[in-house]
Amino acid sequence: MSIHRFLLFLALFLATASTPFTWCKYVGKEMEVFPVFVKWHVYAVNGLSNNNTLFVHCKSSDDDLGGHSLSSADNFTWSFRTNFLHSTLYWCYMHKDDTHASFNVFWQDMYLFEKCNWKNCIWIAKDDGIYIKNFANCSDELRYKWEAPGWW
Ligand SMILES: *[C@@H]1O[C@H](CO)[C@@H](O)[C@H](O)[C@H]1NC(C)=O
Ligand SMILES: *[C@@H]1O[C@H](CO)[C@@H](O)[C@H](O)[C@H]1NC(C)=O
Ligand SMILES: *[C@@H]1O[C@H](CO)[C@@H](O)[C@H](O)[C@H]1NC(C)=O
Repeated sequence: MSIHRFLLFLALFLATASTPFTWCKYVGKEMEVFPVFVKWHVYAVNGLSNNNTLFVHCKSSDDDLGGHSLSSADNFTWSFRTNFLHSTLYWCYMHKDDTHASFNVFWQDMYLFEKCNWKNCIWIAKDDGIYIKNFANCSDELRYKWEAPGWW
């Protein structure tokens, strides 16, 4: 790639990175070129009804983020840059009432990056399962179901 293209993409990246956070403002595909430059933010949001508490414990192979109890509408968030081997993987264990779920929240995947708008991966625990916010059309998509009660 020429230095001009590089500078152009760098400028685009800096412009995008410095704009204030806006819900569902879709920046698009120019970010694909340099995924390693992106500072990713992952959110685990308590979207349960009836003031239900959500327990969250997220980790990667070398980063244990600890257990957290979230009251209604609260979230737990962390940020990171992917490693150069493209192997960054985070997963979460979530627990509510008598049920739980365990699933990946960040992995190396262009479809995921698009949904996250190259910046924010927002996972929302609702009564019927775990949703991811798709910034492309601003909708919450059901991605994982809660496990049947009692199964561990
Ligand atoms: C949730 O809790 C708040 C504050 O504790 C209370 O005002 C509200 O009525 C509760 N809502 C429900 C649906 O229980
Ligand atoms: C997470 O919580 C903070 C503080 O309450 C709030 O400002 C932010 O909008 C929340 N983010 C999400 C994705 O729910
Ligand atoms: C948003 O887009 C996804 C595919 O990218 C699609 O499955 C989903 O139905 C869309 N949601 C809405 C509300 O348009």
